[in-house]
Amino acid sequence: MSHQFGDNQVLQKVNLEVCEGDFVTIIGSSGSGKSTLFNIIGGLLEPSSGEVLLNGGSIIGKTGHVSYMPQTPSLMPWRTVMENVELGQEIRGTVNHARTLELIDKCGFTAIKDDMPGTLSGGMRQRVSFLRALNTSGQLMLLDEPFSALDEITRIDMQQWLKDILKVEKRTVLMITHSIEEAIKLSDKIVVLEDKPATIKKIYKTLQEMTAESSQKLREELLELLR
Ligand SMILES: Nc1ncnc2c1ncn2[C@@H]1O[C@H](COP(=O)(O)OP(=O)(O)O)[C@@H](O)[C@H]1O
Ligand SMILES: [Mg+2]
Repeated sequence: MSHQFGDNQVLQKVNLEVCEGDFVTIIGSSGSGKSTLFNIIGGLLEPSSGEVLLNGGSIIGKTGHVSYMPQTPSLMPWRTVMENVELGQEIRGTVNHARTLELIDKCGFTAIKDDMPGTLSGGMRQRVSFLRALNTSGQLMLLDEPFSALDEITRIDMQQWLKDILKVEKRTVLMITHSIEEAIKLSDKIVVLEDKPATIKKIYKTLQEMTAESSQKLREELLELLR
């Protein structure tokens, strides 16, 4: 698939296949077209050419097939945690309180479900935002730099939390990140984008049970590639 804004060729023949259950990370420099790619997959933007297929059917220009977690939490300050987590269902007309409560419980949020977002830390707000994306029927989740605004300790905690949740709530995830460490820690596959225009430079398969040496080698290769 390719995309240009006027004369600005942003994505060029980006060809990517994601298998069900995979955690795929996309790394690329700022302005390389990562969010544009997500907007196209999310159906918010139509590509200049090419196809976007989900289970074999085109989803170009169609929203509602994937759940999207934006970079900033954008929670509604006048709604409780529970009401925020239910927002996606409300928009789609598929409110299911029992399901929301079950998810809140699984994620350890029962004690704060009636709190207002303003009383929570940045990390907690980000978790609520993730839960909101999780609380829709879409199998595919798009996470646009979900941890970039967090301090390092919160970020490490949250990566582990995300891993644990995905063990019980299985999803296919496409995540944008700037962090090589984060990519190695979380993903099954790492996609490196080359910019201006963005093409896929390299795809790495990472093994979650990688030895210390092979993950160090991967770290060095990625660093070299992204320089
Ligand atoms: N709606 C738009 N109209 C015109 N140009 C855009 C629009 N959205 C993004 N761009 C341009 O596309 C390029 C890629 O942007 P973006 O996808 O946001 O990059 P990234 O998320 O990798 O930082 C940039 O040059 C940006 O200026
Ligand atoms: Mg972006």
